[in-house]
Amino acid sequence: MSYIFLIIISYLMGCFSSAYIVGKTFKKIDIRDFGSGNVGSTNALRVMGVKFGIFTFLLDILKGVLAVYIGKFILGDIGGVVAGLFVVIGHDWPVFIGFKGGKGVATSIGVLLVLFGVMIFIPLVITIIIISITKYVSLGSIAFLVMMPIVYSIFIREFKMEYFILSLMLALFGVIRHKENIKRLIKGKENKIKIGR
Ligand code: G3P
Repeated sequence: MSYIFLIIISYLMGCFSSAYIVGKTFKKIDIRDFGSGNVGSTNALRVMGVKFGIFTFLLDILKGVLAVYIGKFILGDIGGVVAGLFVVIGHDWPVFIGFKGGKGVATSIGVLLVLFGVMIFIPLVITIIIISITKYVSLGSIAFLVMMPIVYSIFIREFKMEYFILSLMLALFGVIRHKENIKRLIKGKENKIKIGR
């Protein structure tokens, strides 16, 4: 019963589509009609500017952090993993806006920050370097999520299979949700980041 409760709670937390809500609340726009159309902080930054982009990013991180803490509180380490998985599923495929959500990067950062701690700063720094050089946020985002299970396996002192599987799943979701970005990257047609209004 606790597992079902936790899955529902974390999925619904993930469904709090920050970019959509921030767009509707502060700019009276539907973020899905602008920029890449993605319901995420990169598109919020692109369409609504730095202030709302950062705000959206922090909200998406926060829901990942909160979900994992709730999971850990209810069911310990495994609860954190289950909550982390479902908060990202909720973010990527939210029931309230037709299952077309974001790409899960900021929410995954929140989840991994709680579970993996400072270790996430290794791929995060590499990601920032990739984005600064290429201006492709999608490339940096994919690199971050794919690097995470590798970094975890190399640097962790006490390996936990469930944490490793979670990081693999988050990388898989990230790649699936970036499918169109990957196609554009291959064709050299991906949008470089430009900050909006
Ligand atoms: O985290 C999303 C980012 O990697 C790509 O966003 O809007 O350029 O598709 P976008």
